[in-house]
Amino acid sequence: MAKKKLMIHELYQMKAEGRKVTWLTAYDFPTAQFAEAAGLDMLLVGDSLGMCVYGYTGTVPVTMDQCIVHSEAVRRGAPNTFVIGDMPFMSYQRSDEDAVVNAGRFLKEASVDAVKLEGGRRVASRIQAIVDAGIVVCGHLGLTPQSSGQLGGHKAQGRTAVSAEAVIQDALAVHEAGAHLLLLEAVPPEVAGFIAGKLPIPVYGIGAGPQCDGQILIVSDLIGQFQAFTPKFVKKYADVATVITEAMKAYVKGVHEGKFPADEHCYHMLEGEESLFKKLIDKYR
Ligand code: KIV
Repeated sequence: MAKKKLMIHELYQMKAEGRKVTWLTAYDFPTAQFAEAAGLDMLLVGDSLGMCVYGYTGTVPVTMDQCIVHSEAVRRGAPNTFVIGDMPFMSYQRSDEDAVVNAGRFLKEASVDAVKLEGGRRVASRIQAIVDAGIVVCGHLGLTPQSSGQLGGHKAQGRTAVSAEAVIQDALAVHEAGAHLLLLEAVPPEVAGFIAGKLPIPVYGIGAGPQCDGQILIVSDLIGQFQAFTPKFVKKYADVATVITEAMKAYVKGVHEGKFPADEHCYHMLEGEESLFKKLIDKYR
């Protein structure tokens, strides 16, 4: 039987019942297929694709068109999983109108179930405008990579009482603006736990401790594919970089040693055709 896609009210029910949501990023069709087969509750086509797929040093260069193409592929690979499209830098910062138009593109062109955008009080009107357009919205607070310049780098947030209060005020504003879900990134578990308990909406975490209503990881970290750096909150469940590199080395060796391709990898001529072929090519000798 095909897996049943979760709806937003079921995510709320899971929070009420204390059942943790499992969420992962995905950027392509095969990974989305694996995730759906593995029973993930949700997928995020994160703007982390800038680093994980395109090799940029951050998320800022990522465009709407890139996000749409990858979201389409993920939707095709995981038709029965709740998919969230991540709004890239400058797709919503300028105006509420931009925010609605670009959030709408995710739904119209890639059939995602929701969109995510970074920021608290300063994007409250963007969140409200997207919600008013009938779109499910996930907020994103704490370490917000699109504004990491202002944060002084990719640093955990809310580690002092004053900065923790700022995260809490942003969380309240995101909820008040109508967001249906909230993601906290790199926030102390004490702070994330308080917010998850205070807000009625599901609060998920990455590097925000176990008290959140669910967890997300970047798939390229989880499978051991991303090489540039590994944040403290990552747990590597596999080492595909080694698996892939070893497979490629074995291929190179096989070709150099004349062991690949072997007879079983060849398309031989149809019966009786080889003798005809030999006669035919005589004229080229
Ligand atoms: O783009 C992304 O992958 C994210 C992570 C924090 C999950 O937003």
